[in-house]
Amino acid sequence: MSMKAQRRIDECQPAETLDLDFARSVVAGLARPDKAIPSRFFYDARGSELFEEITQLPEYYPTRTETAILEKYATEMTAGAPAGSSLIEFGSGSSRKTEILLAAMPELYAYVPIDISQSALADAAERLAQRLPKLRVLPVVGDFSQPLKLDDAILEHPRVGFFPGSTIGNLEPGDAVNLLAQMARVLGSGSRFIIGVDLKKDVDRLVAAYSDSAGVTADFNFNLLERINRELGADFNVPAFEHSAVYNAEDGRMESYLVSKVRQQVTLFGRNVTFEAGESIHTENSHKYDLEEFDALVRKAGWSTVNVWNDEDHLFSVHELIAG
Ligand code: AVJ
Repeated sequence: MSMKAQRRIDECQPAETLDLDFARSVVAGLARPDKAIPSRFFYDARGSELFEEITQLPEYYPTRTETAILEKYATEMTAGAPAGSSLIEFGSGSSRKTEILLAAMPELYAYVPIDISQSALADAAERLAQRLPKLRVLPVVGDFSQPLKLDDAILEHPRVGFFPGSTIGNLEPGDAVNLLAQMARVLGSGSRFIIGVDLKKDVDRLVAAYSDSAGVTADFNFNLLERINRELGADFNVPAFEHSAVYNAEDGRMESYLVSKVRQQVTLFGRNVTFEAGESIHTENSHKYDLEEFDALVRKAGWSTVNVWNDEDHLFSVHELIAG
């Protein structure tokens, strides 16, 4: 390359980057006879915004119920953590629920939020600096589902993990065991863990929570197709799909689908994908547990249950575990 043609690096535009994991997963998922796209791809900027709206809906009980349980029992939940512990949160997002625990842990060494979104971490760190000025915040940008090694300074202090929101419910039980076992390795034996779990309950209540009357959950589901159009250049005709949420009693989970209203074709990376009328894309599983089932699951991952807290209606539970 001649010197003349060379441009200074800071004059260059960043390349439009294609999220390869997203692209590959969508292509593979739409090539299956039973079309499916993993639910982790819901959470682009728009999807995260829509999820925040979901948490405010009258039908969506998990967020407000878990928040109330944390508010009521934060002192008990954190009593087992010695002074000088670190609180490590997997997928911290806005860290709003964490603030409830942090307020009950004045002797913390550090709060370590782990999140894929650098901007979410920056916003949370800024807010926490205002509200809890004495707190040491040591953010980690990364995917909590991947193995990770905590800094030595953190490993020198006792660790408490935090994984609220029943995010664990998005995984198949076998994958949930693997993730919880990996988290036990990251935190180390003797560590504690506080995890939120959505419980089995009346089917009507579950279905309403995943197909709200304002249609926000439907928009959250549709955003996945819009994201595929935006980022991968596909041409989904979004209004030709409808949102569907059903309870699968055998597997104990809510399932979300995008159902094609008509026979249609979509172009993705120059290839046609055909949908028959009534054919669906499976976009999410949200597993519901009872207390015994969840205890059995965490045992397989090397954890023991120390304590469980519930709301009065037994909609949601928060479990304290210990590793090893
Ligand atoms: C964020 C995974 C806990 O499964 O309830 C809400 C996502 N999907 N409405 C859940 C979700 C549809 C939510 N989690």
